[in-house]
Amino acid sequence: MLRNLTIGFFLLAGVVLAPAASSEPIVIRFSHVVSEDAPKGIGAARFQELVAQRLGGRVQVVVYPRSQRFNDDEAVNALLFGDVEMAAPSLSKFGHYSKSLQVFDLPFLFRDVAAVQRFQAGPVGQRLLRSMEPIGIRGLAYWDNGMKALSARKPFRVPADMKGRRFRIQSSDVIERQILAVGGLPLKMPFARAYEAMKLGLVDGQENAWSNIYTAKMYKVQRYFTDFDYAFLGYMVITNSRFWDGLPADIRGELESILAQVTREVNEIAAQRAVQDRAAALRQPGVELVRLSDAELQQWRQAWLPLRDRFAAGIGEEVMAAAEAANTP
Ligand code: LMR
Repeated sequence: MLRNLTIGFFLLAGVVLAPAASSEPIVIRFSHVVSEDAPKGIGAARFQELVAQRLGGRVQVVVYPRSQRFNDDEAVNALLFGDVEMAAPSLSKFGHYSKSLQVFDLPFLFRDVAAVQRFQAGPVGQRLLRSMEPIGIRGLAYWDNGMKALSARKPFRVPADMKGRRFRIQSSDVIERQILAVGGLPLKMPFARAYEAMKLGLVDGQENAWSNIYTAKMYKVQRYFTDFDYAFLGYMVITNSRFWDGLPADIRGELESILAQVTREVNEIAAQRAVQDRAAALRQPGVELVRLSDAELQQWRQAWLPLRDRFAAGIGEEVMAAAEAANTP
């Protein structure tokens, strides 16, 4: 309590997070929740490596993978309180702070990763990087993972198969509604708990990008996979705005240029891994891919397209229009 009050005072006074002008290196602690071998984990390590090469001695990056320090739901608070300086939660975890960011979760809105990238690179996508500025969070970059697949203990072929099934979800109100819309029981749960929940049978299914499915070995506890590119999983690399603005301008500029390079690399790796890790997961003993007919796919579209009507007003007309337009190259 006392600590919170003290930090609150210093935050208001605007002093605690500005790096001190001294010969000590500026330390950037980067927290994330996935394996070091997943695209985001590789990106964080690459950022650390390039910072050491290009800003060696002046800035030191320390990476905390696999929720070692914080899970994604804690990351925003950790950034605000100066417990870490960077994180890269999935876009699904920001809807509480910026309704516009819910756009990334709507099923069947973006046709593929290329459409998401066009949207992110455009003026609206770039503006959304600043949409959490009122709470002191700055988006520095978007990093891809890939399109999501459903996994299950019993096959999900049509929406009715999800009825009454418990489903692990990220902390997103859109995804919660997505599962409720088909009669499923959504359970918001940090990534660090997902595998255990599946193993213990606390949940019957979940959704994720293939690199997470493979690196977290979810195929060991979920046998059936259904993928029909209904939605995207990607990240926003975030920092504390005051911390970032308080960095010496030359260091900030170099960090931004390093981040731009790492972003290109991560997105290339993510695209490769979406294919490779999918194939590797599907090769595991006992694993089955549920192939949908056009009529079955149509049922999922019918079940999930109406979510747009529910969330569009909060997301905003301009954001929705830009997202839809991004489907056309
Ligand atoms: C999840 O919680 O399933 C993902 O957001 C994990 C991640 O960071 O990729």
